[in-house]
Amino acid sequence: MRPTPRSAVESLDPYVPGRAAEDDDHGLASNESWLGPSVSVRSTIIRAIDKIHRYPDPLATELRQRIGRELDVDPEQIVVANGSDELIYLLCLAYLRPGRRVVVADPPYRLHDVVPNLFDGDVVKVALRNWVHDLPAMAEAQADIAFICNPHNPTGTVVPAEAVKAFIDQSSSTLTIVDEAYIDFVENVDRQSALPLAREGRLVVLRTFSNASAEVVEVLRRVRPPFSVNSLAQAAGRNSRT
Ligand SMILES: Cc1ncc(COP(=O)(O)O)c(C=O)c1O
Repeated sequence: MRPTPRSAVESLDPYVPGRAAEDDDHGLASNESWLGPSVSVRSTIIRAIDKIHRYPDPLATELRQRIGRELDVDPEQIVVANGSDELIYLLCLAYLRPGRRVVVADPPYRLHDVVPNLFDGDVVKVALRNWVHDLPAMAEAQADIAFICNPHNPTGTVVPAEAVKAFIDQSSSTLTIVDEAYIDFVENVDRQSALPLAREGRLVVLRTFSNASAEVVEVLRRVRPPFSVNSLAQAAGRNSRT
């Protein structure tokens, strides 16, 4: 008998990457920078090459300490992965029971829809209101997990941290995931970011570097591939601004 994938995998539309630039100097698709790596990140990576015959630090300890100092967050509340997308997979792997409801904005960032479906979740989409997340309507959706994409991909609109706090207080979701992949494009980040709320425990904030309650971090450490973030990426991260 031939192996058959689960039905959620069979019905999945494969990801189609943005069209590649015709020459390397002018590609802006997928938010890639045409400036290339900074001189200091490049030299840090070159130095780190001397250690690539060793496994990387599975907990990325130094990198978490560096991010913690930058964002004023306890390193025990930080888990690093190969991008926020990997954390979306890990959070669904650890917390989403088949058939449970996941609420997202409509339209959602694609992986907030695809990944819960892959784990047999029931994705409830709530239409944007004037292009912004309709958080009161999302709170009424009786979901177990909520994704808030802030700023929202694809519209770029922002909800303030007070609105996220009100959502957490009103909604039935035991886990709210605020994806702040584009927060660095927002003015007044301190007022808009949900990062200070993450200390309360029902919230995970994803950055291209990511943050969660210490309890959630402990769970994610159990399910993550131990050596997922390689040593060159860790070195480059230690050398970057978050
Ligand atoms: C809203 C959002 N979250 C997460 C990601 C993925 O980020 P990363 O490169 O850190 O996996 C993207 C990338 O487009 C995004 O738009």
